[in-house]
Amino acid sequence: MISKTVAELFEENLKHLEIEVKGWVKSFRANRFIALNDGSTLNSIQCVVDFEAMSDDLLKKITTGAALHVKGTLVESQGKGQSIEIQVSEITVLGEANPELVSKTILQPKRHTLEVLREQAHLRARTNTFGAVMRLRSALSFAIHSYFHNNGFNYMHAPIITGSDAEGAGEMFRVTTLDPKNPPLTDTGEVDYSKDFFGKETNLTVSGQLEAETYAMALGKVYTFGPTFRAENSNTSRHLAEFWMIEPEVAFMDLEGNMDLAEDFLKSVITYVLDHNANDLEFLENRLEQEEKSKPQNERSPMRLTEKLRFVADNNFVRLSYTEAIEILKNSKPNKKKKFKFPINEWGADLQSEHERFLVEKHFKSPVILFDYPANIKAFYMRLNEDGKTVRAMDILFPGIGEIVGGSQREERLEVLQQKMEELNIPEDELWWYLDLRTYGTAVHSGFGLGFERLVMFATGMSNIRDVIPYPRTPQNAEF
Ligand code: 4AD
Ligand code: MG
Repeated sequence: MISKTVAELFEENLKHLEIEVKGWVKSFRANRFIALNDGSTLNSIQCVVDFEAMSDDLLKKITTGAALHVKGTLVESQGKGQSIEIQVSEITVLGEANPELVSKTILQPKRHTLEVLREQAHLRARTNTFGAVMRLRSALSFAIHSYFHNNGFNYMHAPIITGSDAEGAGEMFRVTTLDPKNPPLTDTGEVDYSKDFFGKETNLTVSGQLEAETYAMALGKVYTFGPTFRAENSNTSRHLAEFWMIEPEVAFMDLEGNMDLAEDFLKSVITYVLDHNANDLEFLENRLEQEEKSKPQNERSPMRLTEKLRFVADNNFVRLSYTEAIEILKNSKPNKKKKFKFPINEWGADLQSEHERFLVEKHFKSPVILFDYPANIKAFYMRLNEDGKTVRAMDILFPGIGEIVGGSQREERLEVLQQKMEELNIPEDELWWYLDLRTYGTAVHSGFGLGFERLVMFATGMSNIRDVIPYPRTPQNAEF
């Protein structure tokens, strides 16, 4: 008797062998055919039981959602719809699932909306859609680690609790052990954080970049891949309060190199899932096609999911400066017809997602890398260009997603960085260690941040970021 997962039953040649498998009942029909799934693959294995040889008591317990241990012989399937099946010799019910209770959950085999699935996030991974999404999520993270490993990067663990605001946007969750009802106060009546756990104000990190820079300036090529937190009150389909970010950082690399790295990296991980997750992608592609049928024609994606992934993997991204983008947007039809919520009138305007999507989806019909943004709409650490008004920033914009990557060449000149921090009221004593990098062997260096969930959205065709992370954290919601 060989113990196997359902995926192995389909992948390996085990016909006529005695095997055993454990999983959950998807469905049981005609007292004869059990569809058993264990999450190793989208496919369920059909288990054929001889009901005359089984007790009624046992048969009654084989219901949707129940956990089973099945033993039998793997054979070529007699019926249509599957290549192999198990001729069952023995079944043990490991865990029953009361049908009456099951009928109140999303385990009940019928269509459930994504909203309802979210309310039962602890069960939704048992559905075909979430099984496929979460296997893809796992495959993508493996592909990401592989890419960096194969290209000489070291995986660096940036701290989760920090004392600085890496993005300078003030969107942080405070970490404290002080009693909210009775915090220690200073003479002037403010909360005295010197009495707090760390002896200072601390927060959950918004980005591992600043710490990653210190490691790039020691190990050369590093990347982080960890959770990051933003207390921004944006209730959109593309924002989470807790999301995972991948942040490579490379010494002696300029913005050009940064764009090359980001493009090659994205293409590589997308190619990986096209090559390794065809089954789940095909399922999600069909799901998306069904979903899109309910949309008006002009909102439907012109390409099928895998076509879109193939397109990104095989074609060069369009690269253009912010200044060029503004010209295109200024002269665009929606701008002239006042269709943009935020009209583009002049150089310096921050780009909104409607503008990004116009460039990517309508104008270029391709991923776009925008670079050299106005200094005053970007973070303090970006390298100032010779024109004195733009910085060596880059954003990568993807169809259906908008911004998927944000990065830059970093300001390596001590005085320029100090001046910038002064202008923005960023205290030097908070970032003395960051400034030290510019004192001891400073050098050109660059990096970027990829929002992992936005990549998973793109690869799975899911349109809400809450549906590509096991337990989404959003304003007013931290259930589970
Ligand atoms: O553009 P951002 O804010 O850049 C940084 O944090 C830099 N420190 C990165 C770096 O240069 N090392 O964030 C990077 C990416 C965005 O492009 C987006 O994909 C994602 O992180 N992101 C979010 N994803 C989900 N929910 C949110 N609230 C996000 N905020 C940013
Ligand atoms: Mg950004």
